[in-house]
Amino acid sequence: MERSPLVKDVLQEITAILNPIIPRASREAQLLLMAHLQKDELWLMTNKSTQVENVEKLFEWVDRRAQNEPLEYITNSVSFYSEDFYIAQGALIPRPETEILIDEVMKHVSDKNAVMTFVEVGVGSGIISVMLAKYFPNAKFIAVDISADALEIAKINIEKFGLTDRIELRLGSLLEPIQEHVDYLVSNPPYIANDAELESNLSYEPQNALFGGIIGDEIIGELLNEVLKRKINFFTCEIGYDQKSKIVDYLQGKQFKDLNFYEDLSGFDRGFTLRLEH
Ligand SMILES: C[S@@+](CC[C@H](N)C(=O)[O-])C[C@H]1O[C@@H](n2cnc3c(N)ncnc32)[C@H](O)[C@@H]1O
Repeated sequence: MERSPLVKDVLQEITAILNPIIPRASREAQLLLMAHLQKDELWLMTNKSTQVENVEKLFEWVDRRAQNEPLEYITNSVSFYSEDFYIAQGALIPRPETEILIDEVMKHVSDKNAVMTFVEVGVGSGIISVMLAKYFPNAKFIAVDISADALEIAKINIEKFGLTDRIELRLGSLLEPIQEHVDYLVSNPPYIANDAELESNLSYEPQNALFGGIIGDEIIGELLNEVLKRKINFFTCEIGYDQKSKIVDYLQGKQFKDLNFYEDLSGFDRGFTLRLEH
């Protein structure tokens, strides 16, 4: 019977396959093998001569990675705000800059025990609603998405974090499925212009999670309309780096208390919080 290959040889082989195709091939080889074995970094370092079972499945993953499919979709796992979330094609892979949106919301609500209703438009994998529901234990969340596939993925994460009775999922567009009073609207909407040219690995992500219209900021505009019409007191929203002035222009002459923009770690405009009253 043929012996299973050793950790060190498997790592070398994966690195050799990926090296001509993607940067940081040896790191990616480690990440793929750790996910395959469900082991951590320390185990990998101290078990170089351990045999690896079921390598066929592992090399199917390597083939997918060699086609530039994002690692997160292959391993069905993504880290966000130091938590491990389930992810699959059908929902956008959470981006690190969206962690800043979470901090912004936390900053704007002084009482973390407040009883309030949050709505998230474009829940995707559920990362925003899950992290906020963990932080605000008395808040109720209604999370909307236009994609049934995204809602399936969000449901898995909501169950994983034991939040099924706190976050309700609704299929629909923008605030159409919401009749109730909303205290706080959060959104990381699609905000890229429809004709923007994107890197090839983005082709694996749902297009309706990325493209926000001909100009790109159409969905943000529609959400602002709804916030003003429904008098939603707080609205925190992620935006593209070049969309700040459009939002400032849009709000000229409108009634509100505060508008604060925030930047990402590279110093680009990345989002804002609009506050209507008190
Ligand atoms: C940029 S992704 C954000 C996903 C997740 N909240 C995150 O931050 O990683 C935008 C999400 O908005 C959803 N979406 C697009 N158009 C929508 C609409 N008109 N109404 C509700 N959701 C929409 C997409 O399906 C996608 O899940």
